[in-house]
Amino acid sequence: MRSVLITGGAGFIGQNLVHAWRATRPDDLLTVIDAMTYAANLRSLDPLIARGEIQFVKGDINDAALLRRLFEENRFTRVAHLAAESHVDRSIDDPEAFLNTNVLGTFSLLRASLDFWRASGMLDASGMLGASGTSDQARFLHVSTDEVYGSLNPTDPPFLESSPYRPNSPYAASKAASDHLVRSFVATYKMPALITNCSNNYGAYQHPEKLIPLMIIHALDGKPLPIYGDGSNIRDWLHVSDHCHALMAAIERGRVGETYNIGGGNERNNRDVVGVICEALDRAFAADPKLAARFPSCPAATGRSCRSLINYVTDRPGHDRRYAINAGKLTTELGERCRVDFQSGLVETIRWYLDHEDWWRDVTSGSYKAWIDKNYGFRIAV
Ligand code: NAD
Ligand code: DAU
Repeated sequence: MRSVLITGGAGFIGQNLVHAWRATRPDDLLTVIDAMTYAANLRSLDPLIARGEIQFVKGDINDAALLRRLFEENRFTRVAHLAAESHVDRSIDDPEAFLNTNVLGTFSLLRASLDFWRASGMLDASGMLGASGTSDQARFLHVSTDEVYGSLNPTDPPFLESSPYRPNSPYAASKAASDHLVRSFVATYKMPALITNCSNNYGAYQHPEKLIPLMIIHALDGKPLPIYGDGSNIRDWLHVSDHCHALMAAIERGRVGETYNIGGGNERNNRDVVGVICEALDRAFAADPKLAARFPSCPAATGRSCRSLINYVTDRPGHDRRYAINAGKLTTELGERCRVDFQSGLVETIRWYLDHEDWWRDVTSGSYKAWIDKNYGFRIAV
């Protein structure tokens, strides 16, 4: 039995990780800390919290006193660090929050983990582990992004762990800075930490500010589908369940001090992704007449294609052209490979949004509307 701290556990990947962890390691004691920003949602965790199967703490990773208390009370030997500001467009609009959480917050968590593991004898100054008599070794997993490597040209090989850091957005720069802090703690303090850099995730519980859920719910409501620029930007889509399995493998079996890239092996340009969503929705409406009654504003409700909503708009400043991941190291060293192919993963994700209308209606009420007005208000059709 291990005591595990998951930061950002009420976010998209965090919620999926909590469920994956519970399913595969039911004896572990899980504690989630999350500041409950606009991106957080506890609906899927509420039943676990109510049954006492996980501990939830609403709090900021910048709160050093809170972290110290949590470490002392729970004696964590695993930290999976996911808490972050994660949306590139918001980082262009308001970079400061990204520095506070992604850089200073990561520093605060590194320091709290190191201080506790040293004070409790789990780690000595030479990096020896397990000196406290426990057979469980302390490990800190920092969850990062492929965006730290910058943008690829169409014929460039995919990113390797050794690719140079060339972040282009304030979000990517803040994640790059946090990766460097983790690296420095490994080199200087012998911190038992690892880093994973992954590509674009998709799946259940993703906030509808991100491309795939935004397009699904806009199509259902008959709203324009805003594709930035000419839509030829490429992302490497990774199903969130594949990501979570890789994270658990990395924290358990990865080598301390190493970086592991995690990718979906699914390079697609945004035009294609939106096209696949539209066609899948058209097919779903044709197969199930009840959907037309539930979503009367969707073009598919009246036999038209959702493609009719596609609208090319002003590009994102500094928009990276292409990301692609070489996940060979993860497969060779840890035996992890993606199981979900993009087409079926996307259809399953669309089904999840169709079946969880109350979830996304709830998320898209309130402050979400203000964000949509702000981010899309200035964009004109191109
Ligand atoms: P998300 O925005 O959905 O969730 C982030 C969570 O962190 C939220 O629940 C939020 O409330 C919490 N949080 C924010 N600031 C906090 C603070 N100061 N203290 C405590 N909690 C705080 O993000 P996500 O998509 O689930 O991403 C999780 C991690 O994975 C992030 O570190 C992100 O950089 C990384 N990542 C995400 C993707 C992706 O495609 N979503 C890809 C690569 C890497
Ligand atoms: O690559 C990993 C990164 O993937 C993560 O580190 C980030 O946390 C995550 O948000 C994601 O970043 P992106 O910027 O790639 O994701 P987003 O969903 O915002 O955009 C995906 C692509 O779609 C990108 O090329 C921009 C484009 N896009 C996005 C939105 C929201 C549009 O064309 N229209 C839109 O309305």
